[in-house]
Amino acid sequence: MKLFDVYPLNDITITKAQGSYVWDENGAQYLDLYGGHAVISIGHTHPHWVQRIEEQLNKIAFYSNSVHIPIQQELADKLGKISGKEEYQLFLVNSGAEANENALKLASFHTGKKKIVAFSKAFHGRTSLAVAATDNKNIVAPVNETSNIDFLPFNDEAALKQYFQTNGHNVAAVIVEAIQGVGGINVASESFLKLIRNLCDTNDALLIADEVQCGYGRSGKFFALDCAGINADIYTMAKGMGNGFPIGGILIAPYIKAKHGMLGTTFGGNHLACAAALAVLEVIEKDNLIEMSKQRGMYLINKLKSIDGIDNVRGKGLMVGFDVPEDIKDLRKKLLNDFFIFTGEAKPNVIRLLPALNITRKQVDEFLDTLNEAIEEMKTPAPKGVEENAY
Ligand SMILES: Cc1ncc(COP(=O)(O)O)c(C=O)c1O
Repeated sequence: MKLFDVYPLNDITITKAQGSYVWDENGAQYLDLYGGHAVISIGHTHPHWVQRIEEQLNKIAFYSNSVHIPIQQELADKLGKISGKEEYQLFLVNSGAEANENALKLASFHTGKKKIVAFSKAFHGRTSLAVAATDNKNIVAPVNETSNIDFLPFNDEAALKQYFQTNGHNVAAVIVEAIQGVGGINVASESFLKLIRNLCDTNDALLIADEVQCGYGRSGKFFALDCAGINADIYTMAKGMGNGFPIGGILIAPYIKAKHGMLGTTFGGNHLACAAALAVLEVIEKDNLIEMSKQRGMYLINKLKSIDGIDNVRGKGLMVGFDVPEDIKDLRKKLLNDFFIFTGEAKPNVIRLLPALNITRKQVDEFLDTLNEAIEEMKTPAPKGVEENAY
C-alpha cells in the first residue's frame, strides 16, 4: 500500500532524539529549533516523560470516558495551578484542530449564535469549522465553505470596531492567536486583544484564544494572551501539551455550563495521554521553564536583531520569527542540509524558531554562530571561474 502523498518531505529519516538534538539513520546529529511544528516543549524523550508514560503503560493505557479516569482530574488540577486558571473547566481531546472545533461549537451552543470572527493569516486547523476559520483558501474544501465565518484584518482596531457596530449582535465568538504561528509569527498588539475582549463582552460573544502553538509557556507566559492581562472565555491547547504524545484540550470559563451530549470523544483524555501531559507540566514546574522560555527568548531575539542580512526579527519567548531577504532565500534549506539545523518556515519568506523551552544558552549560541556563517557563505559569491575550472 502506498502512503497518501500529502507532504513535501525533507529527505531525512530521524531515528533517535534527545533534548534539542535529533539523529538521522546515518548517525548525523541535527540541532532542532523547530520541534516538529512547535510540539517538543520539554525536549525530545525527556527521561521523566518516558518514565511517566512507561509506568502508566504498565497499569492501563486506555479506557473510554464512560468510567472515572482519576488521572484526568490530576491533570486538571496541575494545569489549573500552573496556568493560573484554576476556576476553568477542562475538556480533553487529541489535537489542535479538534480543540478549536470543540471551542467553536461550544461558543455557538452557549450563545445560541452562528457568526465567528477570525483574522487574516489565521491558522486554526484542517477540519470542518477550524479550516473554515483558517485564512488559506487552498486548504478549504468546498464542503467546508460557510458564510458563518467573517475574516477581518489582524491587528486592525478600526476594522474590528466598524464590524461590530453593524454585526456585533450576531457574533458567537472571536477566535484569535495572540501570536500567529503558521501565519508567520505575527504578535497581536495588547490593545487589539483588549478591544476584542471588550467587544465580546458588550455583544455577548465569546473570546476563544487559540493557544495551540503560542500557549503552554512558549511565549514566556503560560498563555500568550496573558501578556495582554485579559482572560479568554475558552483557551484551546495542543502542541506543547504532550511533548509529542497526541493530546489537546480546551479550558472553559466557569460560566459556560456543560450539558451531557454537548461534546464528546472516544480517545480524548485517555490514561496514557494524561500521563504524558502530567509529565510535561511537572517538568515545566520543576525546571521553571516558562521563565526560562522568556529569558532565552529575549537573549535569542536580541542577538538575532544584531545579525546583518535578516530582517524584522519578532516574537515573544521562544516563538521567534524573522524575514529572509530574496538574496538568501534558501537560507532555511542551507541551515538544514549544510549545517544540520532544523528550523521552520512560513510562506513566503519567514523562518520560524520554535525550540524546546529548555534549550540551553550554549545551543542558542551554536545556532547563532551557524546562522552567521550560513549567511556569510550565501552572500559571498564563489570566485569567478571556480565552477568552470572545477573538475
Ligand atoms: C494555532 C494553531 N491552531 C491549530 C492548529 C492545528 O493543530 P493540529 O495540527 O494538532 O490539528 C495549529 C497547527 O499548526 C496551529 O498552529
